Amino acid sequence: MTDTITIRTPDDWHLHLRDGAMLRAVAPETARHFARAIIMPNLVPPVVTGADAAAYRDRILAALPEGSGFTPLMTLYLTEDTDPADLAQAHADGLITAVKLYPAGATTNSASGVTNFDKVRPVLETMADIGCPLCVHGEVVDSDIDIFDREAVFIERVLDPIRRATPGLRVVMEHITTIQGVEYASEGGPELGATITTHHLVINRNHILAGGIKPHYYCLPVAKREEHRLALRRAATSGDPTFFLGTDSAPHTDANKLLPCGCAGCFTATNTLSILAEVFEQDGALDRLESFTSLNGPKFYRLPPNDSTITLTKGDPVSYPDHIDTGDGPVTVFDPLMPLHWQVST
Ligand code: DOR
Ligand code: ZN
Repeated sequence: MTDTITIRTPDDWHLHLRDGAMLRAVAPETARHFARAIIMPNLVPPVVTGADAAAYRDRILAALPEGSGFTPLMTLYLTEDTDPADLAQAHADGLITAVKLYPAGATTNSASGVTNFDKVRPVLETMADIGCPLCVHGEVVDSDIDIFDREAVFIERVLDPIRRATPGLRVVMEHITTIQGVEYASEGGPELGATITTHHLVINRNHILAGGIKPHYYCLPVAKREEHRLALRRAATSGDPTFFLGTDSAPHTDANKLLPCGCAGCFTATNTLSILAEVFEQDGALDRLESFTSLNGPKFYRLPPNDSTITLTKGDPVSYPDHIDTGDGPVTVFDPLMPLHWQVST
C-alpha cells in the first residue's frame, strides 16, 4: 500500500487572498504548501491597472511569513475601460500573468466587470498578440437563465463566440462545474485550459440544500448535480493536461457567510492538499495527483514546474482547524465531510 507520495510543489491557479487583515491571515495558509498562485483581482476597488497590480503584489509579499518563497502571480480585472497599452506594458514587465474576465454581476465584487463584450474586443486582441491568457468566470447573468444552467449557456453564447472572434487568445475556463464545461474544455486544443476547485470535486448541490441550507457550501458557480461532480472527478484525475487545480479558495468571515444574503465562497486553502490526495486515492489516481496540482498548470501558463517537492504521508485522520482567526473575524475552513488521511510533511 502506498503511504507516502512525493510530488513537485503544487501551484494554485485561482486564489482569492483579499487585502488588509484578511490577507495577512489567509496568505500563510496557501504559502505553506504552494509555491505560486494566480491571484484574483476582485478587490474593492478592483485591481485594474499595472500600478494597482504592483501595489497589491507588494502588499501580498509583505503579508507572507518570514522566509516564504511564495510567488504571487498577479492578474488584472478586465473592465470596459481597460487600457490595452497599460495591460501590454504590465505583461511585458512580468508584473501580470493573466487577465480576469468577470461578467458584470456574476459574483462577488464583479460590478466593474464586462456587460458589453464587444467593448473589450481590442483588449482581447492585444492579449492574443502578446500571449497573455484570459481567465474567465464563465456564467451568464441573465435573470431568465436558471442559475444551474448559467455555465452551459455562457459557453454557447459568450465563450465560444469570443474564442472564434479572437484567434490565438489563450483562455482558462475558471472553476468549471458541469459536464458541458468538461467537454468544451477537453475539445478546445492547447489554447484552452480549465481549472477545477477542490470543493467542486467533493460536493454537489444536495450538500448545499438538502436537510437545511448550508451557507459554507455556497459558492459561485454553485455546485451542480452529482453527475456533474463525477465528470469533474474524471477530468481532474484523468491526467489530461487541459485540467489543473485552481482552488478558488475564497475567504469570507462567518458573519458575512451567514447573512440573509450571504457571500459566495468556500475557504479551502488550509486542507486542500489533504482533500485532493484523498479524492485521487479514492479514484485510484494518486499517480496523477502531481499532474493536476503541479504539472498541467505550469504547462498551460508556459512556466517551468517547481523544482522543489512536497511529500504527503498517509496515516491516522489528519486534524486541521475548523476555522482560522482573522482580524476581521473567523473564517470557516471547508469541511469535506470525510476523514482525511494524507498530511503534507513539513
Ligand atoms: O464563490 C466564489 N467566491 N466565486 C467567485 O467567483 C468569487 C469568489 C469570491 O471572491 O468570494
Ligand atoms: Zn474565484
